[in-house]
Amino acid sequence: MNNPLYNAVSHAQLQAYSITRNAIRSALERLADKYPKLSRRYTNDPTPLRVQDLGCGPGSTAITFGENVLGQIRRELKFGKQLPVRWNFVDLPSNDWSSLLQMVSESDAFSSSEANVYSYAHGADFYGSCSPPESVHLSASMIALHWLSGTEVPGASLAGLDRVHPNEPGVPAETRAAFANKAHADLSQFLQKRKQELVPGGEGIYVMVGGNGPNDWRDKDGASLFTHALRKTINKGLIPASVLEDAQINYYLRTEEEIRRTASEVEGLDILDIKSYTIHTGVNVPDQDAAQVCADLAWSVHVNSLRDSTGCSEAELDAIYEELVSVCKRYGFFLSTFTRRPKATFAMLAVRKHD
Ligand SMILES: C[S@@+](CC[C@H](N)C(=O)[O-])C[C@H]1O[C@@H](n2cnc3c(N)ncnc32)[C@H](O)[C@@H]1O
Repeated sequence: MNNPLYNAVSHAQLQAYSITRNAIRSALERLADKYPKLSRRYTNDPTPLRVQDLGCGPGSTAITFGENVLGQIRRELKFGKQLPVRWNFVDLPSNDWSSLLQMVSESDAFSSSEANVYSYAHGADFYGSCSPPESVHLSASMIALHWLSGTEVPGASLAGLDRVHPNEPGVPAETRAAFANKAHADLSQFLQKRKQELVPGGEGIYVMVGGNGPNDWRDKDGASLFTHALRKTINKGLIPASVLEDAQINYYLRTEEEIRRTASEVEGLDILDIKSYTIHTGVNVPDQDAAQVCADLAWSVHVNSLRDSTGCSEAELDAIYEELVSVCKRYGFFLSTFTRRPKATFAMLAVRKHD
């Protein structure tokens, strides 16, 4: 991911977070009821409420998410007024941690003298262990779990196909099925790890791209934004055709049914909710900036996958980026105004560990 660019434009997808609001409020209410040491009836030496944000990213959205949750914690009357909160930010070691920590230090909710929040930055793979056993009250992961655990998918590859990710129409059924199996194994592994880390009655709220609903930027044959942009760049002779054959974006968009099947197989976790939510990307961005912001959001998230899978030079990547921006402009502009915001669908899975 291009961390500075992501921090600059990721607000364009923040609307997706509203899918979690009720789930977080209900989880906090249940936790306050279950753990008297978190509640206001218990004032001496209160136990910290422990939260983890898995795949937190370089800061902008993680802080917004954290401020929302901390706001709910401070408004939740059942919690002790002085309740300390231990907040564990988790992402890959390559994340821009200094940017994240700078933003944490500038946030009143995290860092004012009254905040009583203790933040930790932890470079780790969320498909492995991220916290000690039975130590987490509220586990969250926002817009990250559609990324698979690695680029190797047993029995399948997108190499040689003119498609960049497995959910596109035109990907052979057996290839897609192999990616679906890997996505199933990855989510299963992720949930097993969270089950170990959650306290009894602890809750997990996970938002990923996917679910049941539209994702726009479709070419006539249903191709994705990047397949579309790569085709155009190849047609202009700026990159070789092999780039589209090599390009791979290593994610899988699970349906609600796929999420339900995986989560229901994890013994010791109850599914509280699974639902989808479709947003208009960039609805909070002024019309004149929206095409650029949408292109930059896509670019910030996917440029490293493109670079790694294709070996494109920086000049070739620049040419792809230029085409991406013009694809976004052509998609969205109507009568000189950006009137058509691309739709993106997100799925939320909420789970609770058995008592
Ligand atoms: C699109 S960003 C989302 C960031 C932020 N949570 C948000 O909602 O905007 C996805 C993040 O997931 C992280 N990520 C992907 N796979 C991961 C893994 N296996 N372990 C930890 N973090 C991972 C990436 O490094 C990236 O920061």
